[in-house]
Amino acid sequence: MEKTILTGDRPTGKLHLGHYVGSLKRRVELQNSGDYKNIFIMIADAQALTDNADNPEKVRQNIIEVALDYMSVGLDPKKSTLFIQSQIPELCELSFYYMNLVTVSRLQRNPTVKSEIQMRNFEASIPVGFFTYPISQASDITAFKATTVPVGEDQLPMLEQTKEIVRKFNSVYGDTLIEPDILLPENQACLRLPGTDGKAKMSKSLGNCIYLSDPSDEVRKKVMSMYTDPDHIQVSDPGKVEGNSVFTYLDAFCKEEHFAKYLPEYPNLKELKAHYQRGGLGDVKVKKFLYAILEEELEPIRARRKELEKDIPAIYEILREGSLKAREVASKTLDDVKSAMKINYFDDTELIRAQSEKYGK
Ligand code: TRP
Repeated sequence: MEKTILTGDRPTGKLHLGHYVGSLKRRVELQNSGDYKNIFIMIADAQALTDNADNPEKVRQNIIEVALDYMSVGLDPKKSTLFIQSQIPELCELSFYYMNLVTVSRLQRNPTVKSEIQMRNFEASIPVGFFTYPISQASDITAFKATTVPVGEDQLPMLEQTKEIVRKFNSVYGDTLIEPDILLPENQACLRLPGTDGKAKMSKSLGNCIYLSDPSDEVRKKVMSMYTDPDHIQVSDPGKVEGNSVFTYLDAFCKEEHFAKYLPEYPNLKELKAHYQRGGLGDVKVKKFLYAILEEELEPIRARRKELEKDIPAIYEILREGSLKAREVASKTLDDVKSAMKINYFDDTELIRAQSEKYGK
C-alpha cells in the first residue's frame, strides 16, 4: 500500500526543542527517506482557535513562525505539502458527519482532552469546539488517507479516537477510510523532553523552553541555568542523573562522536554519568558540553531561518499553494465519504430512476 503522512502543530507559539526531538526531526528523516508517496504537514490554526477563540491574533501571528520553523529544520515544500488547516473547508464537513459516530462520554474519556480541560480551567464551561477537537483531528488525518502520523506521545489518545471513528465509519457505510498508525520517537528521552526547569514538559506558559529560533547566547543562558540535581551542591558530591534535565537532554541529543569532539576525557555518556554519580564532576562542565551539542544542532537551523526570513511573501505563497493542493485531496475524500453515506443525490442516477418509478413514471 502507498504510504502517506499527515501531521501538524497548533500555531500558538514558536516551536521548541520538545517539538524538535518529539516529532520534527523524525518528519524530516521520513521526508528524505523516499518511503512516502505523499507528505502533508498542517498548521492547525482551526484547532488552535478551539481554545483561543478570544485571541485569533495570537494564532494569526504564529502561522508564519511555525512555517519558518518547519522549513528551517528541513521540511522542504518540494517534497512535503505545507498547508493551513482553516483553508480546507472539507475538513469541517467531514467532522460534521463523524460527530454522529462518537458519543459525548467517549470524548469525556479522552485523556488528553481531560488533562487539557484541567490545565485551562475549562471544567465549568468547556467550549463545544474544544471538546470535539479529537473529532476534527480525525478529519484531518482521514481526509488525506494518512497511513502514518508522526507525533508526540501526548497525541496517542487522538490517534486511538481516530482509529475508532474509521472502524465505525467503515462498518456502517462500507470500507472508505484508512486506519492510521501513530509513529512515536524511539528514544525514550525524546518522548517527552522535560523543561529547562525540570518540569515534565516544555511549555510556553511555564517559560521553560529552548526555542529553535533562540539566538546562541540565549541558548547558553538557558542551558547554564538548567535544573539539575538539587542535592549536588559541591563538585565532589555524588549526583543523580535520573530526573536531571541536563542528562535527559544528553540522552536525547548526545552521540558518541560528540565526546571525541567536545569532551575527550570520556569515551561515552555512560562513563560521564558514572562519574557524575560517583561525585567529582561539576554541573558547569556537563552543561557546557550540552550547550556545544545543542549549538551544533541549532546553528544550521538558525542559519536557514535567517535566509528564509528574507522573503516572507514567498513563505505565504508556499502555504497558499500547499493549501490548494491539500484541498484537492481532501475534497476527493469528502466525495468518497458522501457517496458511501449515500448523500450524493445528484450523482445517483439509480436513486432518481427508482424515485420516478415509485411515482409510476
Ligand atoms: N493536536 C496537534 C497539536 O496539538 C495538532 C494537530 C491537529 C494534529 N490535527 C492533527 C497532529 C492531525 C497530527 C494529526 O500539536
